[in-house]
Amino acid sequence: MLKAKDNELLTRVCGDSAMGRLMRRYWIPVVQSAELESGGRMKRVRLFGENLLAFRNGDGQPGLMGEFCPHRRASMYFGRNERSGVRCAFHGWAFDRGGNCVEMPNEPTGEDFCHKIRHTAYRCSDWGGVVFAYMGAAGDIPPALPEFEWALVPAEHRFISRRVQYCNYLQALENGTADSSHVSFLHAPLPAAQQALIAGDRSHVGLGQVAANTDTSPRFEVRRTQYGMLVGARRDAGAGHHYWRVAQFILPYWNMPPVDVGGDPIYHGHAWTPVDDEHCVNWSFSWHPQRPLSETEKEDLREGMGIHICQYAPPTSSWYGDVRPRPTRDNDYEMDWEAHRTAKFCGIPGFAAQDQAMQESQGAICDRTQEHLGASDVAIIQLRKRLMDAAKHYADGSQAPESADGRLYRVRPASAILARDSAWVEALGDRLIATH
Ligand SMILES: [Fe+2]
Repeated sequence: MLKAKDNELLTRVCGDSAMGRLMRRYWIPVVQSAELESGGRMKRVRLFGENLLAFRNGDGQPGLMGEFCPHRRASMYFGRNERSGVRCAFHGWAFDRGGNCVEMPNEPTGEDFCHKIRHTAYRCSDWGGVVFAYMGAAGDIPPALPEFEWALVPAEHRFISRRVQYCNYLQALENGTADSSHVSFLHAPLPAAQQALIAGDRSHVGLGQVAANTDTSPRFEVRRTQYGMLVGARRDAGAGHHYWRVAQFILPYWNMPPVDVGGDPIYHGHAWTPVDDEHCVNWSFSWHPQRPLSETEKEDLREGMGIHICQYAPPTSSWYGDVRPRPTRDNDYEMDWEAHRTAKFCGIPGFAAQDQAMQESQGAICDRTQEHLGASDVAIIQLRKRLMDAAKHYADGSQAPESADGRLYRVRPASAILARDSAWVEALGDRLIATH
């Protein structure tokens, strides 16, 4: 059970909230680079409760600007994407990527008035196939861009998707990062169908190994790191051994869930970026460090066999209106009730939709004052503490958080069978380090 004031601190990300101010000190993914055409149509997005337009100007540079013109608040979505920036369709006021008003063609006062107007605009950068924005104060020096392994490998080695979630970022982050015990239930086959479903686990999330393991109550251990936290879940593996699944948490909303032991795994990661207090965007990244992903692997990911949902509802031009998933609360996430009865613990097709269903069912903002946490929730408690400590520490906003330094992010998750008496972090060693 959490105190109401702590739940507020953790979940409120808009306006002057402490968590929002902390998160704005980190680069945030906005859209995929390929979504923005130079001089082309702009896209509505929403971050930390701000309605914004993402665009790529005629010079090919990405930009992020307030949607509503500072003149008379018309939507600049209908405006013109020009060489250096955006011009409002209403009266022709023009703004560069930095938010400076550069032209006011309907004003006789011309230049003078122009200099008095500044529009909301944030610095942007293309990085790893994604447009990132820095939404801290204009005077801040942004940290190094996030050197995740997926951003450093060649483009053919990675697969990226994103989708809207109808809930606060934290309940998604908790489930994805600190909740290994749910894998034995939510994603598991029923015993009669175990072999067939394990054989179908082609996305290396380790379902087969967890399902084959009879220990359904993992013990959790957490190790704080400079960039966030390591979350270790330990299951019995017989004969003096433990099966460890170790996830990475990278402040403020990134994770990397564990993959299969051995083989030739594809790695996965997420970000749950806050749209506002009651929505987030689930960014999903899959990559192979050494080789391009095959067409079959990409097809599997696209079809929902891994962490992605790429089945979208008909697109709209609202914020993130083209990445709203087709499986939703209103259609029971496309639940297959026959599979639910005969083959799977939960008949919703695909791990990602199963997770999304659980996370959204907790409410727009989960009321954590009503919870009853057990020993399997130790890592969730630690995750909340890590976030609250960071938000309190940087509450005055005077200093950039050290964990925002993207050079710290060259890490990987890991799974391994280790001797019972081994120290898990030390035993995993280099397996937790990215090689790029
Ligand atoms: Fe899950």
